[in-house]
Amino acid sequence: MSLTTFSTERTGPRVGRDADVPTKVTAPSLLQKKLLRQPITAVTAYDYASARLVDEAGLDVVLVGDSLAMVMQGHENTLAVTMDEMLLYTRGVRRALRRALLVADMPFGSYQTDDREGVANAVRFVKEAGAEAVKLEGGRERKDLVRRMVDAEIPVMGHLGLTPQSVHRMGGYKVQGKTMEAIDELRTDALALENAGCFALVLEGVPRELARIVTEELTIPTIGIGAGPDCNGQILVLHDMMAMTFSPPAKFVRRYADVAGLMRKALAEYRQDVEARTFPSDAESYHLSREMRGLMGVQTEAVG
Ligand code: KIV
Repeated sequence: MSLTTFSTERTGPRVGRDADVPTKVTAPSLLQKKLLRQPITAVTAYDYASARLVDEAGLDVVLVGDSLAMVMQGHENTLAVTMDEMLLYTRGVRRALRRALLVADMPFGSYQTDDREGVANAVRFVKEAGAEAVKLEGGRERKDLVRRMVDAEIPVMGHLGLTPQSVHRMGGYKVQGKTMEAIDELRTDALALENAGCFALVLEGVPRELARIVTEELTIPTIGIGAGPDCNGQILVLHDMMAMTFSPPAKFVRRYADVAGLMRKALAEYRQDVEARTFPSDAESYHLSREMRGLMGVQTEAVG
């Protein structure tokens, strides 16, 4: 980090933030947005810098998704990331957010084996990392766990459809809810999660028509990813939308920026400048005082 960045972090103005602190997004306020037919905006973020940009851009929800196992850690699926790793990333995001709701994703293995352990892990996210809600995958089989978490004062976001933690059971990342039976199952699961106390539901990788039916059947808001435009909100993985991934994007991903392209270009230029000795320039260097230079008998100009 440069000295300039360092000092700005501590003392400089926060663009559009501290001068005018916006209304905090909460779990109940998302329900309000559904009632007012205002779309909910959500995105993943895993680190302080990007979470701060998301917050300053005015998005409603930041999810520290277990997708970080793939986009931050380079795993081939989401299964390997641990509770302790998720806590570490969530803490960095916590420090960045003023307005957005911070939702932490329960990683694989942190809630599937035992409800008590699941609640204890959700408590860790709130207590040790400042999360304001947790998200977990699964339907009816999670209803008791969701109830226990809500009883422990922790808002829970559900996640149905293409649930990446079920990758082995699904046999890959495939669109879900395409048969009559699967449609019925998903609708039943969605209602079970709402009745158990979830405050919102992520619908991932399902046909638009099914997402619409579920959105209309539920009182709580649905947040879609690869689920069409009729959900109450949308979420994307930040690295997907910024082209910071290394394989072709899924059909539903819209690229809003080519950050990898920008970084590649910047890194090539930096390498060229260093190799050509045009970086850093004299103006980008610190200097001894004139008096010290005289005492030391050194030249003013940097030599190549
Ligand atoms: O982990 C994640 O990023 C998610 C979103 C895709 C909803 O669960």
